Amino acid sequence: MGKIGEIKYIINNRTINIRNGEVKDAEKLINLIKKVGKETDFLLKNPDEFNPTIEEEKNFIQNQADSEVDLLVVAETDGKVIGICGLNGNVNKRIRHSAEFGLAIEQEFCGMGIGKKLMKAGIEWAKENGISRITLKVDTNNYRAISLYLKLGFEIEGTLRNDKMLSDGSYIDGYTMALLL
Ligand SMILES: CC(C)(COP(=O)(O)OP(=O)(O)OC[C@H]1O[C@@H](n2cnc3c(N)ncnc32)[C@H](O)[C@@H]1OP(=O)(O)O)[C@@H](O)C(=O)NCCC(=O)NCCS
Repeated sequence: MGKIGEIKYIINNRTINIRNGEVKDAEKLINLIKKVGKETDFLLKNPDEFNPTIEEEKNFIQNQADSEVDLLVVAETDGKVIGICGLNGNVNKRIRHSAEFGLAIEQEFCGMGIGKKLMKAGIEWAKENGISRITLKVDTNNYRAISLYLKLGFEIEGTLRNDKMLSDGSYIDGYTMALLL
């Protein structure tokens, strides 16, 4: 449940390990989200708004692992967690077939194909677990992410006007995208 088989890739002479997130990753995952949050405005929270304790993060990871409808996958290299991909599903029957993607890669490792590998692992898991609709939300100026999602077959379903407000007060539109499996 919420499990994928471990996959290893060689990318730019580095071994990238794609596997389920584990409780032992809690501190590394907090640091990764904080780092990516400082590197880009594309995540949902400002860096100072993401402050779970290690215990809270461990509980989150354990809950994802125990869940039949959620998935947490990480990319690791040299013992360092450099990417995370989550699929959050629903238990209610009418929307049990639907899950939402979230994705973040450390800037130094972006553009190397790791996001695509993480998403492919998530899509395979979704297919095997009765999910037939994957959704996500993306800022309309997040060109790399949009390009990746289109390549994987996601389609834009709508525009969310003024979806996000940045710390300088400017608004960013978002797209809702979906992939039907
Ligand atoms: C968006 C993100 C997850 C993509 O992951 P990634 O590992 O960088 O993406 P990949 O290297 O797998 O690239 C996949 C595709 O995107 C495209 N791409 C890569 N770099 C790009 C760039 N600078 N501009 C436009 N498209 C780009 C390429 O077409 C690539 O496909 P290809 O390798 O088959 O040609 C990652 O960049 C990231 O975490 N960014 C910051 C946080 C974020 O934006 N999260 C998503 C919120 S919705």
